[in-house]
Amino acid sequence: MKSLRRAVVVLAAGQGSRMKSTLPKVLHPVLGYPMLGHVLRNAAAMQPSEIIVITGHGREAVQAWVEQWASHQSGLCVRCVEQIDPRGTGHALQFAMPHLSETDELLVLYGDVPLLRQQTLAALMSARGSGPVSVLAGHAPDPTGYGRIVTNDTGQVAGIVEHKDADSNQREIRLVNAGMMALRTDFAASALSLLDDNNAQGELYLTDLLGIAASQGEAGSVCVAEDWLELQGVNTRAQCASATDTLRRRVVEHWMNEGVSFEQPEQTWVETSVRLHSDVTIGAGVELRGCTDVHSGAVIRRGSVLEDVRVEAGALVKPYTVAQDAVIGEQAQVGPFTHLRPGSHLESKTKVGNFVETKKARLRVGAKASHLSYLGDCDIGAASNIGAGTITCNYDGKNKFQTVLGKGVFIGSDTQLVAPVTLGDGAYVGAGTTVTEDVPPGALAISRTEQRNIEGWVARKKSKSESS
Ligand code: UD1
Ligand code: MG
Repeated sequence: MKSLRRAVVVLAAGQGSRMKSTLPKVLHPVLGYPMLGHVLRNAAAMQPSEIIVITGHGREAVQAWVEQWASHQSGLCVRCVEQIDPRGTGHALQFAMPHLSETDELLVLYGDVPLLRQQTLAALMSARGSGPVSVLAGHAPDPTGYGRIVTNDTGQVAGIVEHKDADSNQREIRLVNAGMMALRTDFAASALSLLDDNNAQGELYLTDLLGIAASQGEAGSVCVAEDWLELQGVNTRAQCASATDTLRRRVVEHWMNEGVSFEQPEQTWVETSVRLHSDVTIGAGVELRGCTDVHSGAVIRRGSVLEDVRVEAGALVKPYTVAQDAVIGEQAQVGPFTHLRPGSHLESKTKVGNFVETKKARLRVGAKASHLSYLGDCDIGAASNIGAGTITCNYDGKNKFQTVLGKGVFIGSDTQLVAPVTLGDGAYVGAGTTVTEDVPPGALAISRTEQRNIEGWVARKKSKSESS
């Protein structure tokens, strides 16, 4: 069979007033990613030649987000079309039609239904067969507000009746329209021009296409989704939170099936863009965000928050580590209470301990900073050891400067490294030193005033204060 040229139209012009937000509803995050983004990702997976997003309320913000999303999609044409003076879902699709290039099939999605699965969309499209239209439906626990699927005596779809237009018998119908449709493009083009607003809401209903198809003797088909949760639209903050929770569970379950252990799956946040490998262990309260990628055998302990972090095989991230845009190398150990800021790259077998903050810092193989340090704009050579309380003084109030340590450098506790400064291989810095000049390989740098011990000083001070 010849493959179909397909376009996806995402309806996203609605107001979303129940969110009570200045942010357009479709940009509200569900599991850390705008709900429209989830819809677009699924749309792209259907391999369309183009995607059109119908915008209205909050148009500028929605368009800006769509454009930046589209800039990461190669070979896919994505554009926004403004629906002027919105008058219903049918009216919205009318706006898309003049912008479509030649296609055989249209898939209509809603921007506020983020939980729909790709396999359900595929099922919706195959339910159409060669017919004019198929519609996604489900058995609603409470059908109030939804369009009801009306069938005739022979079980064929006669049409969809909106809740506000339905009589009391029709309101008994539990099979409701979820809204998403697959349409043959030629049918959509002709039937959309037949819509009228002769209904309870004075709108152009997309759902009337089902009645039109039936009246033309080519009844549409229904694809019934098994899982009602998937079909739910998000209109309120509470629904946004519950959609997030549903998706969160789905993602965690997926990774458990792929060989990842979760110590407390109910308390773990893993975004859809995260990648995990087998035999990873994730502790309670862990958040994995963005493009975080955790390789085999790595362990992420309780309360750690990682965003855009690559954790390589066998690494151990101890409790309450916070890291962003960083690399944690093979067999490295980090935490507890470590802060890896953007540009931190810990190579294999490094060790970074409690209350250490790093930023644009490279720690080469086996380097260690076990306690209480700030390491910014620096390159720490292999097997170097950074003592407790070491600070790279990288900022003079205007500019940032680099600290470079060779291999096997030993930095004593409470050292300040005033950048720009370079320490050669095997250099040694005595505790309490302020390093302001380069240290040659193998040299000791020490800057301290000599210690004096004054015998009997305490007793003399005591007797002085007693006599006064
Ligand atoms: C629609 C369906 C209803 C279905 C329900 C499922 C129609 C007439 N009714 O009703 O059968 O049970 O969804 O949730 O289609 N939108 C636009 N422009 C508009 C109006 C809406 O882009 O002029 C977009 C909205 O942003 C939203 C989607 O279309 O993404 C659905 O609109 P909404 O107003 O929620 O439709 P419902 O009345 O809920
Ligand atoms: Mg709705």
